[in-house]
Order: sequence, then C-alpha cells, then structure tokens
Amino acid sequence: MTQTTEYTAVFTGTTRKRLDEILTRYPTKRAALLAALWMVQEAHGWISDAAMAETAEVLDLTPSYVKGVVTFYTMYHQHPVGETFVQVCTTTPCDLCGAEGVVQALLEHTGCGELGATSPDGKFTVIEVECLGACGFATPVMMNEDFIEDVTPDKVPDLVKKYS
Ligand code: FES
Repeated sequence: MTQTTEYTAVFTGTTRKRLDEILTRYPTKRAALLAALWMVQEAHGWISDAAMAETAEVLDLTPSYVKGVVTFYTMYHQHPVGETFVQVCTTTPCDLCGAEGVVQALLEHTGCGELGATSPDGKFTVIEVECLGACGFATPVMMNEDFIEDVTPDKVPDLVKKYS
C-alpha cells in the first residue's frame, strides 16, 4: 500500500491496543520504537515522514530521532517498494563468490533494471545489503522474510518465478 496526499494514522483502534500491549513489555516507550516502526511498515508498506511523526508522537520522541533509526536499518523502507523486497549481500566475501552476477540476474529477471527501483508490475524491488551473516553460503538473498542461501545467477529465474 502506498501513501498519497492524505495520511492515514496507524496507531488507532486495534493497532493502538496492540502497541499499548507491546509497551507493557518494555522499560521505556523509546525501547519499543523498532516494534512500532514495524507496525507502521505492516500497515503502509513503507515509512513516510508523516508516519515517523506519528510514531514519534505516540512514543514521546522527536521525529528526527525516529528518522535516525529508520534511516539506519535497511529493513525499514523510506519509500514504497515492490511486493517482494529483495536484499542481496554484496559484501566482499560474497562479492568474491559472484554476488554481482546474482544482482545483475535479479535486476534483469525482476524487470527492476536498477538497484532500489521497483519493477513496472510493482512486484519487486532489489537492493544490495551488507553481510547477511551467511558468508559460507554465498550468495545469500532475502525475499521479504525468506532467507535463501547459495543463490547463483542460473538459479535466479526460478527464484523470481516462485515469488511472482
Ligand atoms: S559477506 Fe555475504 S553473508 Fe557475509
């Protein structure tokens, strides 16, 4: 889901209740920020400046503090992304094992064309990320929350088909 001109608040009704329940498990409101941002992303598909402001308000933080956290983690989207968000490790060990070929194959077969762009059908966005913690299984790729090891360029067409 994307946002246009009118912002739809996230933390209302059952979502607000869910947040309140989550807040009981943390020593401070600030400590629940990552969970709250995840709820925003579930609701809108990405985290806009307006959503950061709303999150800041409900957690008694400043919007700039929230933005600092959002921009630190690649798992939070600062703009609309495709239905399947694809993260490819291109850190040196994986790069030496051919990660660049995997990236190129993904860009070609998803139709994204370039890193960070969304495919014309809205199904995919591909980005490069730092070490995914599976250096012995190059090249690891995340398709949303699914972790896939040993991806090679020749495996990419089937992988893309599976998520289309
Ligand atoms: S360098 Fe790629 S997973 Fe660690």
